[in-house]
Amino acid sequence: MRKSRTLDRKSGSRPSSTISESLVSRTRTQVVIVGAGPAGLLLGQLLHRVGIDAVILERRSAEYVLGRIRAGVLEQGTVEVLDCAGASARLRKEGLIHDGVGIGFEGRRHRIALKQLVGKAVTVYGQTELTRDLMEARAASGCTSIYEAEDVALHGWGGASPKVTYRRNGATHEIACDFIAGCDGYHGVCRASIPADKSRVFEHVYPFGWLGVLADVPPPWSELVYANSERGFALASLRSPTRVRCYVQCSLDDRVENWSDTRFWDEFRRRIGEEVADRVVTAPSIEKSIAPLRSFVVEPLRFGRLFLAGDAAHIVPPTGAKGLNLAVSDVYYLHEALRDHYRDRSEIPLDEYSARCLRRIWKAERFSWWMTRQLHLFPGDAFARRMQVTELEYLFESAAAQASMAENYVGLPFEPAAASARTQVA
Ligand code: FAD
Ligand code: PHB
Repeated sequence: MRKSRTLDRKSGSRPSSTISESLVSRTRTQVVIVGAGPAGLLLGQLLHRVGIDAVILERRSAEYVLGRIRAGVLEQGTVEVLDCAGASARLRKEGLIHDGVGIGFEGRRHRIALKQLVGKAVTVYGQTELTRDLMEARAASGCTSIYEAEDVALHGWGGASPKVTYRRNGATHEIACDFIAGCDGYHGVCRASIPADKSRVFEHVYPFGWLGVLADVPPPWSELVYANSERGFALASLRSPTRVRCYVQCSLDDRVENWSDTRFWDEFRRRIGEEVADRVVTAPSIEKSIAPLRSFVVEPLRFGRLFLAGDAAHIVPPTGAKGLNLAVSDVYYLHEALRDHYRDRSEIPLDEYSARCLRRIWKAERFSWWMTRQLHLFPGDAFARRMQVTELEYLFESAAAQASMAENYVGLPFEPAAASARTQVA
């Protein structure tokens, strides 16, 4: 019988008798990565390429992870990190490079010429495909990923000898390690293991969600369109030359069952602006889901030998297309910190990780919040509406405002590592 799994949240440790009682295996690695989303898989690849061993523990099956439809826009820096990870061959071949993005307002589409304004573009490539590429790269490298790992629990991250336990097929396993990387998303166990008095949380919940539909139909738009309409926000996006991804703002208590395909496409057409609406070809949805919108940051990102990265550490509303891209910059910084730590036997790179990430995270939080404020309907707030109208008119008139938006949308540059290798990615 397993004993109580109560964790001493003050020290991040657990009485060893609690762990050992029903153990069937005990192994060791340098880094245990919790979570096989894009952050965990990419970190695994980057560490492998610099000779650091890691085991990935994921609570779901690989098929389940691949079934989640999420982000679609990659910054140039993200693509370059995937090059470093040796996982970009298909992305480089099939990704769609977009030099501009549209903002729909009062029925018209205004183009922000990303490439012309700031010299960079974005790549449209679905998170599902990216995850598949990273899974394949990991399988090819022969590294260990354990899917369907239940009851993952962290031990001793406050000291020098952390361990992670999990159950699989009814048996308990223990992995001793040097470090734990918490890449287990917003609902994961890693952030939840940190005592409340050791961290500070910043959060803003928006009073609406996004209803998203995926459909197999050639996109009638060649670039994304983010539309501010009096009926609420809409986004025309895509995944490939034969697949569209579209969203409409919905209320927080809305349900997918309330939205037939016909209702969705009618509403989407009303919001997206005439120029696009007239060309919309509808198709049955192959996926339909509602996501709430939230801004969230935990500080710091390092707790002894535990590091948080990706959605485990922060959430942005999807309006700026930053969630996945931030997860990538976090794990890029984390792999550099671990690489330099092992190479130089120094704590400095590890100490710098949190502040280095947070500077980039807060800028992406600001941009995502700004995009969300300018494009969504905030019912009953007449002042906010006037501000939106003024912001958008200014944006369309001012090359400086457009350059500022473009600079953030394509992704701010990565910060060089201060104490170590100064390789700038973007
Ligand atoms: P995740 O992708 O969440 O991966 C975390 C992994 O950890 C998961 O596989 C999970 O199963 C696993 N895990 C959780 N708990 C445990 C545990 N206890 N033990 C072991 N494993 C565990 N971003 C955009 O840019 N555009 C979008 O349109 C967009 N849409 C989104 C829609 C939804 C519903 C969500 C939730 C996010 C969306 N995002 C979007 C954000 C983007 O998908 C995330 O930022 C990105 O997935 C972050 O990657 P991650 O690896 O940090 O976290
Ligand atoms: C998407 O294609 O799913 C997508 C694109 C851009 C966003 C959010 C989502 O800002």
